[in-house]
Amino acid sequence: MKFPKDFMWGVSLAAHQCEGSFEGDGKGRGISEREQFHNPMSDFYHRYPEDIEMLSQLGIHAFRMSINWSRIYPDPWGEANQIGISYYRDLLTKLKEKNIKPIVTLSHYEMPYLISRINGFVSKESIDLFMKYVRTCFENFGDLVEYWLTFNELNCEHMPGHNKMNGIISSENHLEWDYAALNNKLVCSALATKLLHEMYPDSRMGNMIGYFPIYPQTCNPKDFLKMMQKTNLLHHICLEVQCNGEYPYFAWSYFKENGIDIHVTEEQKQILKEGTVDFISMSYYCSNVVTYKYDLERRSGNQIGGIDNEFLEKNDWGWTIDPEGLRIVLNDCYQRYKMPIIIVENGLGAYDTKEEDGSIHDTYRIEYFHDHLSQLAKAVVEDGVDVFGYCLWSAIDIVSVSANTISKRYGLIYVDADDDGKGTFDRFRKDSYYYYQKVIATNGEAI
Ligand code: BG6
Repeated sequence: MKFPKDFMWGVSLAAHQCEGSFEGDGKGRGISEREQFHNPMSDFYHRYPEDIEMLSQLGIHAFRMSINWSRIYPDPWGEANQIGISYYRDLLTKLKEKNIKPIVTLSHYEMPYLISRINGFVSKESIDLFMKYVRTCFENFGDLVEYWLTFNELNCEHMPGHNKMNGIISSENHLEWDYAALNNKLVCSALATKLLHEMYPDSRMGNMIGYFPIYPQTCNPKDFLKMMQKTNLLHHICLEVQCNGEYPYFAWSYFKENGIDIHVTEEQKQILKEGTVDFISMSYYCSNVVTYKYDLERRSGNQIGGIDNEFLEKNDWGWTIDPEGLRIVLNDCYQRYKMPIIIVENGLGAYDTKEEDGSIHDTYRIEYFHDHLSQLAKAVVEDGVDVFGYCLWSAIDIVSVSANTISKRYGLIYVDADDDGKGTFDRFRKDSYYYYQKVIATNGEAI
């Protein structure tokens, strides 16, 4: 199947999972770097010219990346770090030289550690701090970036237990904190969108949603109702606000039922109305199953909870592999919001073996991409969903967020490093690299 002529084929990375160099060159500590992750991660901070060269040979049109806020503002109340600004400017310039369009996430699960002083995004002060950072990014990189994304997987960040992603270091969990932080981030997202449109009218802002289908366990209407409620809560609060500019009725009912005050002001409601995004971006990895009999809880076999799906295979970490789910979510999302969509993450975490000659035969990953891209093609070509791009996860091996190891590998390019942060850090192309190279060269015909 042939994809539309201008379809953007790309790859993705996130700064805090690949850069390394936590300290030095003026960078401040990031919130996810305190106990987590071995330096130097994939050492992208030093090796990005080599990586961009290899990615350019892959033939990509787009590179989805993120900026590390704590590299730009080591202290969010202080001065901008010029070395950090030069670093990202150079990276973006190199992409431009290779004719690769960057898609830049402003906040991918990362922020300066010091923001925890004010309990992170729970505090309204975080909005000013974030917007100061956003303005600096637009002023310094805006001429090199046409596509921006606000917060990575914003809908996942308000799930209980994700304190750090909101800049909260306390181990206490408060539902009201989760939603007050979400509201402040939604306001940041709207303000960033408005600012981008003022400064660069031709540039475009997208949101980013971790979109996984939730299936009812049976055809019992009670299971269906449960599925609908979970889907609304997990996916559609963020999408409704970011695409349509206001909280949906089911959000207000949920807040009321749970005694949650999100502290939204009338002025903020107006900002949300005025700052809707230009396109939807999403990650897609797996699906979940729910039943009315018990609540969505974390169980082995699924990414974020739910119960086992006997019809699906799983990866070594228990994430379901569900290519058809991708076609389902694309149709569902387009039908509801009628906005252009780009997939900015989709990939398989797996253990890889590097042979003595440096080859990596990751046939399982090729099969995963083949199956998912086939469903993507059906959604685009047969169903007519307006998807304008696909950036797979990930360009090079990175440190996994949930497993906290590099041995849960996602990359098309192997990074010679182990879970203790040791190795040569040399790069090797996997078989999946050559597969994706053909897919791009044929605009999807070689899927
Ligand atoms: C997405 C995140 O949820 O999933 C990425 O945006 C992450 O940052 C990816 O790496 C894969 O998940 P994990 O936990 O295996 O790294």
